[in-house]
Amino acid sequence: MAISCGIDFGTSNSSVAIAQHDQVILVPVEKTHITIPSAIFIPPQGYNPIYGRAAVKMFFDRQEGRFMRSLKRVLGTPLMKHGTQVNGKPLKFEKIIASFIQNLKERANILAKEEIENVVMGRPVHFVDNDKDADHRAQEELTSIAQRIGYKHVEFQFEPIAAAFAHEVNIKGEKLAIVADLGGGTSDFTVIRLSSQYAAKADRAEDILANTGVRVGGNDFDKDLALSSIMPELGYLSTYGKKNLEVPLKYYHDLAEWSKVNLLYSPKVLSQVRQFFHESHDKRRFGRLLKLLEQERGHSLLSTAEDTKIALTTRADHTASFDFLEKDFAIPISRKQFEDAIQHEVGKISKAATECLLKSGIKADKIDLVILTGGSTEVPLVQLAFKKLFPQAAVADENKLSSVGIGLAYDSRKKFR
Ligand SMILES: Nc1ncnc2c1ncn2[C@@H]1O[C@H](COP(=O)(O)OP(=O)(O)OP(=O)(O)O)[C@@H](O)[C@H]1O
Ligand SMILES: [Mg+2]
Repeated sequence: MAISCGIDFGTSNSSVAIAQHDQVILVPVEKTHITIPSAIFIPPQGYNPIYGRAAVKMFFDRQEGRFMRSLKRVLGTPLMKHGTQVNGKPLKFEKIIASFIQNLKERANILAKEEIENVVMGRPVHFVDNDKDADHRAQEELTSIAQRIGYKHVEFQFEPIAAAFAHEVNIKGEKLAIVADLGGGTSDFTVIRLSSQYAAKADRAEDILANTGVRVGGNDFDKDLALSSIMPELGYLSTYGKKNLEVPLKYYHDLAEWSKVNLLYSPKVLSQVRQFFHESHDKRRFGRLLKLLEQERGHSLLSTAEDTKIALTTRADHTASFDFLEKDFAIPISRKQFEDAIQHEVGKISKAATECLLKSGIKADKIDLVILTGGSTEVPLVQLAFKKLFPQAAVADENKLSSVGIGLAYDSRKKFR
């Protein structure tokens, strides 16, 4: 049997598993870790990027260079064509993403002790909502990246179906399951008939009853939390000038989006923000925005929002500290505030899950198993929403960050047998 692998290039975290000698094994992708943050740090000289935790560390250690996260969100968007300025030079996102995935490929080859040519890449049900062309483009872009780095045969599988395959090997009897894969960038669903007996079946079309997905994920929770509880302390919704106009919202919206933060560091934006500061009616707060942009600490702010979200998974209150911006600048944030801020996003997630059920023609009470995977299923409000939708179903939630990678490798065995 040809050796093959599955790559889960995630918005926040990535993993790879190989299928070799009848075994599926997760690849250590960063030291001994089987997942790697989808983060890149590019130092000023040449193009010698650093990936994952090491990249995050370089950024927080204030090393000189450019930090990037959530690159998957760029696929299928106009930014792919435009590229970005990195250390004063234009760079295409295709090259940046290719180098990140190539690093994953090399790790897999090291474990396999041979060059793997067959890959199944994971993909969300929709890269981009309600735009078939953009969605198609995103997959084409990923295909060309995989080919460019040397994969000869490239196939795709929906991420939630892969997660189902990973769980299937341990299932007793036949189960009607819904998978909810809630990641950093997208929430994806599949209603599927599972049984360890079916795992070897080549064609699963008759068992896959429906798929849906929305471009809502943990990144959006970070954004909502930042906009509702943090940005007002940086002058969001404050006014300027004789006409008492509101300062532009766009700065804050870009600042709250992992893949757009870097756009704010251009000389043009900085000079605009300085102009608004000059006429600002709330210089103390708006001045923090200016300082943040001048010091290029947007990612630190978003990281603090993300850390706060994660802290609020286990606690009712958390104090977010912004010492990196101003001594003793801290904001207490409650879980209730966070839940109010993300309510509408959780509504969209529940709606997509319900649509998946409707498309499948299965009634909620016929679902035996809810498979929760992806980091965002940790959020208590999200878990509550699924309990309400499927009160009688059992819940499986092992390997939240690696199930998609494992399942893609299982699928690669079938696709390249
Ligand atoms: N304990 C937690 N509480 C709340 N959110 C969490 C927790 N742990 C991780 N997350 C969030 O989960 C998200 C990452 O999940 P995951 O690694 O499954 O995403 P991904 O696979 O990279 O993204 P996608 O599948 O959308 O491309 C991040 O937004 C992260 O902040
Ligand atoms: Mg994922």
